[in-house]
Amino acid sequence: MTLKKILQRIWAIVGAVSVRSKILGIVLGFIVLLGVGVTFQARYALTATMTAQLEEQSVSVSRDLAARATDLILLNDLLGLHDLLDETLANNPNVRYAFIVDPQGQVITHTFEGGFPLDLLAINLADGHAHHHTALIQTDEGLVWDTAVPILDGKIGTARIGLSDASMRAALSTLTAQLLLTIIFVSTARGSCSVFLTWILTRPILALVSATKSVAKGDFTPRVLRWADDEIGDLADAFNNMTEELARTDELRREREFLRRQLMEKVITTQEDERRRIARELHDSTSQNLTSLIVGLRIMETNCAQCVAISKATDLRQVASKTLDEIHDLSMRLRPRVLDDLGLAAALERLAHEWQARYKIPADVVIQLNERLPGEVETAIYRIVQETLTNIARHAQATSTSILIERRGDMVRAIVEDDGVGFDVNTNHSERHLGLMGMRERAELLNGTLTIESAPEHGTSVFIEIPLSSPLLLGEGVGVRLA
Ligand SMILES: Nc1ncnc2c1ncn2[C@@H]1O[C@H](COP(=O)(O)OP(=O)(O)OP(=O)(O)O)[C@@H](O)[C@H]1O
Ligand SMILES: [Mg+2]
Repeated sequence: MTLKKILQRIWAIVGAVSVRSKILGIVLGFIVLLGVGVTFQARYALTATMTAQLEEQSVSVSRDLAARATDLILLNDLLGLHDLLDETLANNPNVRYAFIVDPQGQVITHTFEGGFPLDLLAINLADGHAHHHTALIQTDEGLVWDTAVPILDGKIGTARIGLSDASMRAALSTLTAQLLLTIIFVSTARGSCSVFLTWILTRPILALVSATKSVAKGDFTPRVLRWADDEIGDLADAFNNMTEELARTDELRREREFLRRQLMEKVITTQEDERRRIARELHDSTSQNLTSLIVGLRIMETNCAQCVAISKATDLRQVASKTLDEIHDLSMRLRPRVLDDLGLAAALERLAHEWQARYKIPADVVIQLNERLPGEVETAIYRIVQETLTNIARHAQATSTSILIERRGDMVRAIVEDDGVGFDVNTNHSERHLGLMGMRERAELLNGTLTIESAPEHGTSVFIEIPLSSPLLLGEGVGVRLA
Protein backbone atom coordinates (compact mmCIF):
# COMPACT_ATOMS: atom_id res chain seq x y z
CA MET A 1 0.00 0.00 0.00
CA THR A 2 1.42 3.35 -0.99
CA LEU A 3 1.79 6.26 1.42
CA LYS A 4 -0.95 8.10 -0.45
CA LYS A 5 -3.36 5.23 0.03
CA ILE A 6 -2.51 4.97 3.73
CA LEU A 7 -3.11 8.71 4.14
CA GLN A 8 -6.38 8.40 2.23
CA ARG A 9 -7.47 5.52 4.49
CA ILE A 10 -6.59 7.54 7.62
CA TRP A 11 -8.43 10.56 6.26
CA ALA A 12 -11.46 8.40 5.45
CA ILE A 13 -11.57 7.14 9.05
CA VAL A 14 -10.92 10.56 10.62
CA GLY A 15 -13.29 12.32 8.26
CA ALA A 16 -16.12 9.93 9.09
CA VAL A 17 -16.32 10.81 12.81
CA SER A 18 -18.56 13.63 14.00
CA VAL A 19 -17.31 17.19 14.51
CA ARG A 20 -17.80 16.77 18.27
CA SER A 21 -15.54 13.73 18.36
CA LYS A 22 -12.97 15.54 16.21
CA ILE A 23 -12.76 18.57 18.53
CA LEU A 24 -12.71 16.34 21.61
CA GLY A 25 -10.06 14.13 20.04
CA ILE A 26 -7.86 17.13 19.16
CA VAL A 27 -8.10 18.61 22.69
CA LEU A 28 -7.50 15.33 24.52
CA GLY A 29 -4.77 14.29 22.09
CA PHE A 30 -3.01 17.59 22.62
CA ILE A 31 -3.20 17.31 26.42
CA VAL A 32 -1.96 13.72 26.45
CA LEU A 33 0.88 14.57 24.05
CA LEU A 34 1.87 17.56 26.14
CA GLY A 35 1.69 15.54 29.36
CA VAL A 36 3.75 12.66 28.01
CA GLY A 37 6.32 15.12 26.61
CA VAL A 38 6.58 17.01 29.90
CA THR A 39 6.88 13.75 31.86
CA PHE A 40 9.69 12.47 29.69
CA GLN A 41 11.50 15.79 29.74
CA ALA A 42 11.19 16.11 33.53
CA ARG A 43 12.38 12.54 34.08
CA TYR A 44 15.32 13.11 31.77
CA ALA A 45 16.39 16.35 33.49
CA LEU A 46 15.92 14.90 36.98
CA THR A 47 17.84 11.76 36.14
CA ALA A 48 20.78 13.82 34.82
CA THR A 49 20.87 16.07 37.89
CA MET A 50 20.48 13.28 40.41
CA THR A 51 23.06 11.11 38.68
CA ALA A 52 25.64 13.90 39.01
CA GLN A 53 24.63 14.50 42.63
CA LEU A 54 24.85 10.83 43.55
CA GLU A 55 28.27 10.52 41.97
CA GLU A 56 29.45 13.58 43.88
CA GLN A 57 27.98 12.25 47.09
CA SER A 58 29.66 8.91 46.52
CA VAL A 59 33.04 10.63 46.18
CA SER A 60 32.59 12.93 49.17
CA VAL A 61 31.39 10.12 51.48
CA SER A 62 34.28 7.86 50.54
CA ARG A 63 36.79 10.70 50.94
CA ASP A 64 35.40 11.42 54.35
CA LEU A 65 35.64 7.74 55.20
CA ALA A 66 39.25 7.59 53.98
CA ALA A 67 40.22 10.64 56.03
CA ARG A 68 38.65 9.40 59.18
CA ALA A 69 39.99 5.87 58.75
CA THR A 70 43.68 6.97 58.49
CA ASP A 71 44.36 7.19 62.24
CA LEU A 72 42.40 4.09 63.04
CA ILE A 73 44.41 2.05 60.49
CA LEU A 74 47.69 3.47 61.79
CA LEU A 75 46.60 2.50 65.32
CA ASN A 76 45.37 -0.82 63.96
CA ASP A 77 42.02 -0.18 65.70
CA LEU A 78 39.83 -2.70 63.85
CA LEU A 79 36.87 -2.20 66.13
CA GLY A 80 37.03 1.56 65.61
CA LEU A 81 37.23 1.00 61.87
CA HIS A 82 34.17 -1.21 61.93
CA ASP A 83 32.25 1.36 63.97
CA LEU A 84 33.31 4.04 61.48
CA LEU A 85 31.90 1.98 58.57
CA ASP A 86 28.61 1.38 60.47
CA GLU A 87 28.36 5.08 61.25
CA THR A 88 28.96 5.96 57.58
CA LEU A 89 26.14 3.62 56.54
CA ALA A 90 23.83 4.98 59.22
CA ASN A 91 24.45 8.61 58.30
CA ASN A 92 24.05 8.08 54.54
CA PRO A 93 20.96 6.10 53.67
CA ASN A 94 22.03 5.83 50.04
CA VAL A 95 25.26 4.02 50.94
CA ARG A 96 24.75 0.26 50.48
CA TYR A 97 28.15 -0.95 51.62
CA ALA A 98 31.57 0.26 52.76
CA PHE A 99 34.86 -1.55 53.25
CA ILE A 100 38.56 -0.95 53.63
CA VAL A 101 41.30 -2.95 51.97
CA ASP A 102 45.01 -2.96 52.85
CA PRO A 103 47.70 -2.17 50.23
CA GLN A 104 47.94 -5.89 49.42
CA GLY A 105 44.24 -5.99 48.52
CA GLN A 106 43.11 -7.83 51.66
CA VAL A 107 39.80 -6.67 53.14
CA ILE A 108 40.45 -5.22 56.59
CA THR A 109 36.81 -4.63 57.51
CA HIS A 110 33.43 -4.40 55.70
CA THR A 111 29.71 -3.96 56.25
CA PHE A 112 28.42 -7.02 54.35
CA GLU A 113 26.44 -9.11 56.78
CA GLY A 114 26.40 -12.30 54.78
CA GLY A 115 30.10 -12.36 53.92
CA PHE A 116 32.20 -10.25 51.60
CA PRO A 117 31.57 -10.69 47.86
CA LEU A 118 35.09 -11.19 46.51
CA ASP A 119 34.05 -10.16 42.96
CA LEU A 120 33.85 -6.59 44.20
CA LEU A 121 37.62 -6.40 44.78
CA ALA A 122 38.38 -6.78 41.09
CA ILE A 123 35.78 -4.27 39.89
CA ASN A 124 37.13 -0.94 41.02
CA LEU A 125 40.89 -0.85 41.60
CA ALA A 126 42.05 2.49 42.97
CA ASP A 127 45.11 4.03 41.51
CA GLY A 128 47.37 5.10 44.37
CA HIS A 129 48.18 8.39 42.69
CA ALA A 130 44.63 9.34 41.83
CA HIS A 131 42.48 11.05 44.45
CA HIS A 132 39.59 8.71 43.82
CA HIS A 133 38.12 6.36 41.25
CA THR A 134 34.41 5.74 40.66
CA ALA A 135 32.86 2.82 38.76
CA LEU A 136 29.20 2.31 37.93
CA ILE A 137 28.10 -1.21 38.82
CA GLN A 138 24.86 -2.91 37.75
CA THR A 139 23.45 -4.95 40.67
CA ASP A 140 20.21 -6.75 41.51
CA GLU A 141 19.06 -3.65 43.38
CA GLY A 142 19.88 -1.27 40.55
CA LEU A 143 22.89 0.92 39.77
CA VAL A 144 25.61 1.46 42.38
CA TRP A 145 28.35 4.12 42.26
CA ASP A 146 31.38 2.41 43.67
CA THR A 147 34.06 4.93 44.70
CA ALA A 148 37.54 3.97 45.86
CA VAL A 149 39.68 6.57 47.69
CA PRO A 150 43.34 5.71 48.48
CA ILE A 151 44.34 6.33 52.11
CA LEU A 152 47.71 8.14 52.38
CA ASP A 153 48.18 7.67 48.64
CA GLY A 154 47.35 4.02 49.03
CA LYS A 155 50.24 3.32 51.37
CA ILE A 156 48.03 2.03 54.18
CA GLY A 157 44.98 1.00 52.18
CA THR A 158 41.88 2.08 50.25
CA ALA A 159 38.43 3.10 51.45
CA ARG A 160 35.50 2.04 49.23
CA ILE A 161 31.83 2.70 49.42
CA GLY A 162 28.88 1.77 47.17
CA LEU A 163 26.10 4.30 46.72
CA SER A 164 22.77 2.99 45.39
CA ASP A 165 20.46 4.87 42.97
CA ALA A 166 17.34 3.59 44.81
CA SER A 167 16.51 7.06 46.13
CA MET A 168 16.79 8.47 42.63
CA ARG A 169 14.46 5.80 41.23
CA ALA A 170 11.99 6.43 44.03
CA ALA A 171 12.08 10.17 43.33
CA LEU A 172 11.55 9.52 39.61
CA SER A 173 8.62 7.19 40.26
CA THR A 174 6.99 9.74 42.55
CA LEU A 175 7.49 12.49 39.99
CA THR A 176 6.10 10.34 37.17
CA ALA A 177 3.08 9.32 39.23
CA GLN A 178 2.39 12.93 40.17
CA LEU A 179 2.71 14.12 36.59
CA LEU A 180 0.46 11.33 35.31
CA LEU A 181 -2.14 12.17 37.95
CA THR A 182 -1.95 15.81 36.89
CA ILE A 183 -2.40 14.81 33.22
CA ILE A 184 -5.43 12.68 34.07
CA PHE A 185 -6.92 15.47 36.14
CA VAL A 186 -6.26 18.13 33.49
CA SER A 187 -7.53 15.83 30.71
CA THR A 188 -10.75 15.16 32.59
CA ALA A 189 -11.28 18.85 33.34
CA ARG A 190 -10.38 19.92 29.81
CA GLY A 191 -12.42 17.04 28.35
CA SER A 192 -15.52 18.20 30.22
CA CYS A 193 -14.93 21.77 29.07
CA SER A 194 -14.44 20.58 25.51
CA VAL A 195 -17.63 18.51 25.60
CA PHE A 196 -19.52 21.59 26.76
CA LEU A 197 -17.86 23.89 24.23
CA THR A 198 -18.30 21.51 21.30
CA TRP A 199 -21.92 21.04 22.31
CA ILE A 200 -22.38 24.82 22.15
CA LEU A 201 -20.50 25.01 18.86
CA THR A 202 -22.11 22.08 17.08
CA ARG A 203 -25.67 22.54 18.35
CA PRO A 204 -26.59 25.09 15.65
CA ILE A 205 -24.82 23.02 13.01
CA LEU A 206 -26.78 19.91 13.99
CA ALA A 207 -29.99 21.95 13.90
CA LEU A 208 -29.06 23.08 10.39
CA VAL A 209 -28.33 19.51 9.30
CA SER A 210 -31.68 18.27 10.58
CA ALA A 211 -33.55 21.19 8.92
CA THR A 212 -31.70 20.57 5.65
CA LYS A 213 -32.79 16.91 5.72
CA SER A 214 -36.42 18.00 6.10
CA VAL A 215 -36.03 20.44 3.19
CA ALA A 216 -34.52 17.65 1.08
CA LYS A 217 -37.70 15.63 1.76
CA GLY A 218 -39.82 18.52 0.54
CA ASP A 219 -40.83 19.90 3.93
CA PHE A 220 -40.06 23.64 3.89
CA THR A 221 -41.55 24.44 7.31
CA PRO A 222 -38.55 23.96 9.65
CA ARG A 223 -36.66 27.09 10.69
CA VAL A 224 -33.38 27.13 12.60
CA LEU A 225 -32.75 29.32 15.63
CA ARG A 226 -30.06 32.01 15.50
CA TRP A 227 -28.07 30.89 18.56
CA ALA A 228 -25.36 33.51 18.41
CA ASP A 229 -24.31 36.60 16.48
CA ASP A 230 -21.47 34.84 14.70
CA GLU A 231 -20.91 33.28 11.27
CA ILE A 232 -23.08 30.30 12.17
CA GLY A 233 -25.84 32.74 13.16
CA ASP A 234 -25.55 34.37 9.71
CA LEU A 235 -25.70 30.93 8.13
CA ALA A 236 -28.90 30.18 10.07
CA ASP A 237 -30.47 33.44 8.81
CA ALA A 238 -29.44 32.67 5.24
CA PHE A 239 -30.86 29.17 5.58
CA ASN A 240 -34.18 30.49 6.93
CA ASN A 241 -34.44 32.99 4.07
CA MET A 242 -33.71 30.24 1.59
CA THR A 243 -36.38 27.87 3.00
CA GLU A 244 -38.93 30.69 3.05
CA GLU A 245 -38.19 31.42 -0.59
CA LEU A 246 -38.36 27.72 -1.41
CA ALA A 247 -41.69 27.41 0.39
CA ARG A 248 -43.07 30.37 -1.60
CA THR A 249 -41.85 28.94 -4.89
CA ASP A 250 -43.25 25.53 -4.01
CA GLU A 251 -46.62 27.06 -3.17
CA LEU A 252 -46.62 28.85 -6.52
CA ARG A 253 -45.68 25.66 -8.31
CA ARG A 254 -48.50 23.77 -6.60
CA GLU A 255 -51.00 26.44 -7.58
CA ARG A 256 -49.83 26.38 -11.18
CA GLU A 257 -49.92 22.59 -11.22
CA PHE A 258 -53.44 22.70 -9.82
CA LEU A 259 -54.55 25.12 -12.51
CA ARG A 260 -52.83 23.12 -15.22
CA ARG A 261 -54.55 19.97 -14.11
CA GLN A 262 -57.88 21.72 -13.98
CA LEU A 263 -57.36 23.05 -17.47
CA MET A 264 -56.23 19.69 -18.74
CA GLU A 265 -59.23 17.95 -17.30
CA LYS A 266 -61.48 20.55 -18.88
CA VAL A 267 -59.77 20.17 -22.25
CA ILE A 268 -60.02 16.41 -22.20
CA THR A 269 -63.64 16.39 -21.06
CA THR A 270 -64.60 19.01 -23.61
CA GLN A 271 -62.76 17.14 -26.33
CA GLU A 272 -64.52 13.90 -25.49
CA ASP A 273 -67.91 15.67 -25.35
CA GLU A 274 -67.25 17.31 -28.69
CA ARG A 275 -66.18 14.03 -30.24
CA ARG A 276 -69.23 12.34 -28.83
CA ARG A 277 -71.47 15.10 -30.22
CA ILE A 278 -69.88 15.01 -33.68
CA ALA A 279 -69.95 11.21 -33.76
CA ARG A 280 -73.63 11.24 -32.79
CA GLU A 281 -74.33 13.92 -35.36
CA LEU A 282 -72.54 11.92 -38.05
CA HIS A 283 -74.40 8.78 -37.07
CA ASP A 284 -77.82 10.24 -36.45
CA SER A 285 -78.00 12.88 -39.14
CA THR A 286 -75.37 12.52 -41.86
CA SER A 287 -75.49 8.72 -41.95
CA GLN A 288 -79.30 8.79 -41.99
CA ASN A 289 -79.29 11.24 -44.88
CA LEU A 290 -76.79 9.20 -46.81
CA THR A 291 -78.78 6.05 -46.15
CA SER A 292 -81.89 7.79 -47.49
CA LEU A 293 -79.94 8.85 -50.54
CA ILE A 294 -78.69 5.32 -51.19
CA VAL A 295 -82.16 3.87 -50.75
CA GLY A 296 -83.56 6.55 -53.12
CA LEU A 297 -80.93 5.77 -55.73
CA ARG A 298 -81.63 2.06 -55.45
CA ILE A 299 -85.37 2.67 -55.96
CA MET A 300 -84.47 4.88 -58.88
CA GLU A 301 -82.39 2.10 -60.37
CA THR A 302 -85.22 -0.43 -60.05
CA ASN A 303 -88.07 1.81 -61.16
CA CYS A 304 -86.26 3.35 -64.08
CA ALA A 305 -85.19 0.27 -65.93
CA GLN A 306 -85.42 2.12 -69.22
CA CYS A 307 -83.87 5.32 -67.94
CA VAL A 308 -80.64 6.40 -69.65
CA ALA A 309 -79.25 7.61 -66.36
CA ILE A 310 -79.41 4.18 -64.73
CA SER A 311 -75.63 3.66 -64.78
CA LYS A 312 -75.18 7.16 -63.39
CA ALA A 313 -77.54 6.27 -60.51
CA THR A 314 -75.55 3.12 -59.81
CA ASP A 315 -72.30 5.13 -59.68
CA LEU A 316 -73.85 7.67 -57.37
CA ARG A 317 -75.14 4.93 -55.07
CA GLN A 318 -71.68 3.39 -54.88
CA VAL A 319 -70.12 6.78 -54.03
CA ALA A 320 -72.78 7.33 -51.38
CA SER A 321 -72.16 3.84 -49.92
CA LYS A 322 -68.40 4.45 -49.75
CA THR A 323 -68.99 7.82 -48.09
CA LEU A 324 -71.31 6.15 -45.59
CA ASP A 325 -68.61 3.60 -44.75
CA GLU A 326 -66.03 6.36 -44.28
CA ILE A 327 -68.37 8.37 -42.12
CA HIS A 328 -69.08 5.28 -40.06
CA ASP A 329 -65.35 4.74 -39.69
CA LEU A 330 -64.77 8.39 -38.76
CA SER A 331 -67.59 8.31 -36.26
CA MET A 332 -66.09 5.15 -34.73
CA ARG A 333 -62.72 6.76 -34.32
CA LEU A 334 -64.12 9.95 -32.93
CA ARG A 335 -66.07 8.25 -30.22
CA PRO A 336 -67.13 4.62 -30.51
CA ARG A 337 -70.71 4.42 -29.37
CA VAL A 338 -69.99 0.95 -28.12
CA LEU A 339 -67.76 2.51 -25.45
CA ASP A 340 -70.68 4.42 -24.05
CA ASP A 341 -73.23 1.71 -24.70
CA LEU A 342 -71.41 -1.55 -23.91
CA GLY A 343 -68.31 -0.48 -22.04
CA LEU A 344 -64.56 -0.71 -22.24
CA ALA A 345 -64.20 -4.43 -22.90
CA ALA A 346 -66.44 -4.43 -25.95
CA ALA A 347 -64.97 -1.17 -27.28
CA LEU A 348 -61.39 -2.43 -26.93
CA GLU A 349 -62.22 -5.76 -28.54
CA ARG A 350 -63.72 -3.97 -31.50
CA LEU A 351 -60.77 -1.54 -31.64
CA ALA A 352 -58.25 -4.40 -31.62
CA HIS A 353 -60.26 -6.33 -34.20
CA GLU A 354 -60.38 -3.42 -36.64
CA TRP A 355 -56.74 -2.55 -35.94
CA GLN A 356 -55.62 -6.12 -36.79
CA ALA A 357 -57.69 -6.11 -39.92
CA ARG A 358 -56.24 -2.78 -41.04
CA TYR A 359 -52.56 -3.26 -40.18
CA LYS A 360 -52.32 -7.05 -40.47
CA ILE A 361 -50.54 -7.38 -37.12
CA PRO A 362 -51.91 -10.17 -34.91
CA ALA A 363 -53.09 -8.91 -31.52
CA ASP A 364 -53.64 -11.16 -28.52
CA VAL A 365 -56.41 -9.52 -26.45
CA VAL A 366 -57.20 -10.58 -22.86
CA ILE A 367 -59.75 -8.46 -21.00
CA GLN A 368 -60.74 -9.48 -17.49
CA LEU A 369 -63.43 -7.03 -16.45
CA ASN A 370 -66.67 -8.25 -14.98
CA GLU A 371 -68.39 -4.93 -14.67
CA ARG A 372 -68.37 -1.44 -16.09
CA LEU A 373 -65.76 0.99 -14.82
CA PRO A 374 -66.28 4.70 -14.11
CA GLY A 375 -66.78 6.60 -17.38
CA GLU A 376 -63.61 8.68 -17.13
CA VAL A 377 -61.49 5.59 -16.42
CA GLU A 378 -62.98 3.75 -19.40
CA THR A 379 -62.38 6.73 -21.67
CA ALA A 380 -58.79 7.20 -20.43
CA ILE A 381 -57.84 3.55 -20.86
CA TYR A 382 -59.54 3.38 -24.25
CA ARG A 383 -57.68 6.47 -25.49
CA ILE A 384 -54.33 5.33 -24.08
CA VAL A 385 -54.65 1.88 -25.68
CA GLN A 386 -55.82 3.53 -28.91
CA GLU A 387 -52.73 5.79 -29.02
CA THR A 388 -50.46 2.87 -28.09
CA LEU A 389 -51.86 0.77 -30.96
CA THR A 390 -51.47 3.71 -33.35
CA ASN A 391 -47.84 4.09 -32.26
CA ILE A 392 -47.21 0.38 -32.78
CA ALA A 393 -48.63 0.59 -36.28
CA ARG A 394 -46.66 3.74 -37.09
CA HIS A 395 -43.30 3.15 -35.43
CA ALA A 396 -42.80 -0.37 -34.07
CA GLN A 397 -42.60 -2.63 -37.15
CA ALA A 398 -43.94 -5.29 -34.83
CA THR A 399 -44.92 -8.82 -35.86
CA SER A 400 -47.22 -9.38 -32.90
CA THR A 401 -48.75 -7.50 -30.03
CA SER A 402 -50.71 -8.27 -26.88
CA ILE A 403 -53.24 -6.36 -24.84
CA LEU A 404 -54.14 -7.26 -21.27
CA ILE A 405 -56.74 -5.38 -19.23
CA GLU A 406 -57.54 -6.61 -15.75
CA ARG A 407 -59.02 -5.40 -12.53
CA ARG A 408 -57.04 -6.00 -9.37
CA GLY A 409 -58.88 -4.91 -6.26
CA ASP A 410 -59.31 -1.19 -6.46
CA MET A 411 -57.00 -0.88 -9.41
CA VAL A 412 -57.42 -1.39 -13.10
CA ARG A 413 -54.32 -2.37 -15.00
CA ALA A 414 -53.57 -2.35 -18.69
CA ILE A 415 -50.49 -3.73 -20.41
CA VAL A 416 -49.85 -3.32 -24.12
CA GLU A 417 -46.75 -5.02 -25.49
CA ASP A 418 -45.19 -5.30 -28.90
CA ASP A 419 -42.12 -7.09 -30.26
CA GLY A 420 -41.06 -4.23 -32.50
CA VAL A 421 -37.95 -2.07 -32.85
CA GLY A 422 -38.47 -0.28 -29.54
CA PHE A 423 -37.06 3.15 -28.72
CA ASP A 424 -35.06 5.03 -26.15
CA VAL A 425 -37.58 6.11 -23.50
CA ASN A 426 -35.16 8.65 -22.06
CA THR A 427 -35.26 10.75 -25.20
CA ASN A 428 -37.64 13.64 -24.78
CA HIS A 429 -40.29 13.32 -27.50
CA SER A 430 -42.65 15.87 -26.07
CA GLU A 431 -41.76 18.79 -28.32
CA ARG A 432 -43.12 17.51 -31.61
CA HIS A 433 -44.79 14.27 -30.54
CA LEU A 434 -47.85 14.58 -28.39
CA GLY A 435 -49.06 10.98 -28.19
CA LEU A 436 -47.00 9.77 -25.21
CA MET A 437 -47.51 13.07 -23.43
CA GLY A 438 -51.27 12.82 -23.84
CA MET A 439 -51.21 9.26 -22.50
CA ARG A 440 -49.33 10.42 -19.44
CA GLU A 441 -51.65 13.35 -18.87
CA ARG A 442 -54.70 11.11 -19.00
CA ALA A 443 -53.22 8.66 -16.48
CA GLU A 444 -52.07 11.50 -14.21
CA LEU A 445 -55.47 13.12 -14.12
CA LEU A 446 -56.90 9.94 -12.62
CA ASN A 447 -54.09 9.56 -10.06
CA GLY A 448 -52.72 6.74 -12.11
CA THR A 449 -49.28 5.81 -13.33
CA LEU A 450 -47.97 5.15 -16.79
CA THR A 451 -44.72 3.28 -17.22
CA ILE A 452 -43.03 2.60 -20.52
CA GLU A 453 -40.32 -0.02 -20.78
CA SER A 454 -38.53 -0.12 -24.06
CA ALA A 455 -35.09 -0.41 -25.52
CA PRO A 456 -34.04 -0.24 -29.16
CA GLU A 457 -34.62 -3.64 -30.88
CA HIS A 458 -36.26 -5.09 -27.75
CA GLY A 459 -39.90 -4.17 -28.20
CA THR A 460 -42.01 -1.90 -26.06
CA SER A 461 -44.26 -2.47 -23.05
CA VAL A 462 -46.69 0.14 -21.79
CA PHE A 463 -48.07 -0.34 -18.27
CA ILE A 464 -51.01 1.70 -17.04
CA GLU A 465 -52.44 1.54 -13.55
CA ILE A 466 -55.44 3.59 -12.53
CA PRO A 467 -57.02 3.49 -9.08
CA LEU A 468 -60.77 3.15 -9.02
CA SER A 469 -61.34 4.39 -5.49
CA SER A 470 -60.09 7.94 -5.96
CA PRO A 471 -62.41 10.50 -7.47
CA LEU A 472 -61.50 12.33 -10.66
CA LEU A 473 -58.82 14.28 -9.07
CA LEU A 474 -57.08 17.50 -8.86
CA GLY A 475 -55.06 16.39 -5.88
CA GLU A 476 -51.56 15.53 -4.88
CA GLY A 477 -49.11 12.71 -5.41
CA VAL A 478 -49.51 11.78 -9.02
CA GLY A 479 -46.56 9.80 -10.21
CA VAL A 480 -45.79 9.11 -13.83
CA ARG A 481 -42.60 7.27 -14.48
CA LEU A 482 -40.96 6.52 -17.78
CA ALA A 483 -38.79 3.47 -17.23
N1 LIG B 1 -44.38 1.10 -29.80
C1 LIG B 1 -43.37 1.88 -30.24
N2 LIG B 1 -42.33 1.33 -30.90
C2 LIG B 1 -41.30 2.10 -31.34
N3 LIG B 1 -41.23 3.43 -31.15
C3 LIG B 1 -42.24 4.03 -30.50
C4 LIG B 1 -43.36 3.30 -30.01
N4 LIG B 1 -44.18 4.18 -29.37
C5 LIG B 1 -43.59 5.38 -29.47
N5 LIG B 1 -42.44 5.31 -30.15
C6 LIG B 1 -41.48 6.39 -30.40
O1 LIG B 1 -41.81 7.45 -29.53
C7 LIG B 1 -42.01 8.64 -30.25
C8 LIG B 1 -43.07 9.49 -29.58
O2 LIG B 1 -44.35 8.91 -29.69
P1 LIG B 1 -45.59 9.85 -29.64
O3 LIG B 1 -46.81 8.99 -29.71
O4 LIG B 1 -45.44 10.76 -28.50
O5 LIG B 1 -45.44 10.70 -30.96
P2 LIG B 1 -45.76 10.31 -32.46
O6 LIG B 1 -46.49 9.03 -32.51
O7 LIG B 1 -44.48 10.37 -33.23
O8 LIG B 1 -46.65 11.52 -32.91
P3 LIG B 1 -48.14 11.86 -32.38
O9 LIG B 1 -47.97 13.13 -31.64
O10 LIG B 1 -48.96 12.00 -33.60
O11 LIG B 1 -48.56 10.72 -31.55
C9 LIG B 1 -42.37 8.19 -31.63
O12 LIG B 1 -42.02 9.15 -32.60
C10 LIG B 1 -41.56 6.92 -31.79
O13 LIG B 1 -40.25 7.23 -32.21
MG1 LIG C 1 -48.21 8.68 -31.36
